[in-house]
Amino acid sequence: MRTHKLAVIPGDGIGVDVTDAALAVLHAVAGRFGFGVATQGFPWSCAYYLETGAMMPPDGIDTLRSFDAILLGAVGWPETVPDSVSLHGLLLPIRKSFNQYANIRPHRPLPGVDAPLKTSAFDILCIRENTEGEYSGAGGRVHQGTADEVAIETSIFTRTGVERILRFAFDQARARRGHVTSVTKSNAQRHSMVFWDEVTRLVAADYPDVRVSQIHIDAMAARMVMAPDSLDVVVASNLFGDILTDLGAAIQGGLGFAASANICPDRSAPSMFEPVHGSAPDIAGRNVANPIAAIWSAAMMLDHLGEAAAAGAVMEAVNATTARGIGTSQGRNTTDEITAAILAALEAQ
Ligand code: IPM
Ligand code: MN
Repeated sequence: MRTHKLAVIPGDGIGVDVTDAALAVLHAVAGRFGFGVATQGFPWSCAYYLETGAMMPPDGIDTLRSFDAILLGAVGWPETVPDSVSLHGLLLPIRKSFNQYANIRPHRPLPGVDAPLKTSAFDILCIRENTEGEYSGAGGRVHQGTADEVAIETSIFTRTGVERILRFAFDQARARRGHVTSVTKSNAQRHSMVFWDEVTRLVAADYPDVRVSQIHIDAMAARMVMAPDSLDVVVASNLFGDILTDLGAAIQGGLGFAASANICPDRSAPSMFEPVHGSAPDIAGRNVANPIAAIWSAAMMLDHLGEAAAAGAVMEAVNATTARGIGTSQGRNTTDEITAAILAALEAQ
């Protein structure tokens, strides 16, 4: 029997609650579809930082490298560890070290979900550049604490980085409705975004079967609210994609539904799957977090591992659950209730 070796990092806050739910679903579906999952949990988190002085051990990245995939809950507990420390000590190094340059985030409302727009007729796949751009980490501060202080945060756009994320997006569009919308801001950012547009045109020439639109980030924010059905695959730089995918989460009904995959497309290293919502300290451990984003992320992981039938079954069970009004709005059901309903829907298939 084939067995997938998974590293599980529940992390902080509701990351723990929703990872438990996702694991229950994974184990249930594995049995049914004839594969095994061998999980190993890692306690890396802000609590771990307080104990050891680091978010993960020095050989953490090497340890993770031997796994087929990583399932992550959430990172961050700002009351005790600044986010700039916790994220740069765990989540961001994993994305960068494993060259997970494509962050895939689907935005579509599940049946029955209480979503804010009048229309539910949209299905957007956002492809966010995940390793460079505005979050390159390059920069510095001088004259700290004085009136002359300067802070510089340098955006880095490489031809390799821009071209590969655009190609990835065009490939995704080919497998969907054949339309890429490239998010830019070349009217104001005349170096990086003019370059981004040039590379978009170059890559587009290799995909004559894919329609391409270019839109500025500000106009895109309005478009996602006013006409989300005009979008198929959306490709954006790290910062733009970060912001737009919270907007995408909002129009699909909330962060409790927003799933994501950090993909290393050449498979030279493991990819990582995580809900977009973060650790939500205010509701941590109270059995109220919606596990659907984490379960949907686990379905994306199954797909990546070649278990498309199992992934489809999980999404079918999630759809059946929300269609019955379970997990459709904040506070309606507990984490355990939603998980149990999804497990029962799987069972009933
Ligand atoms: C996300 C998060 C992270 C990001 C933060 C926590 C660093 O907001 O996954 O969208 O910006 O990538
Ligand atoms: Mn974000």
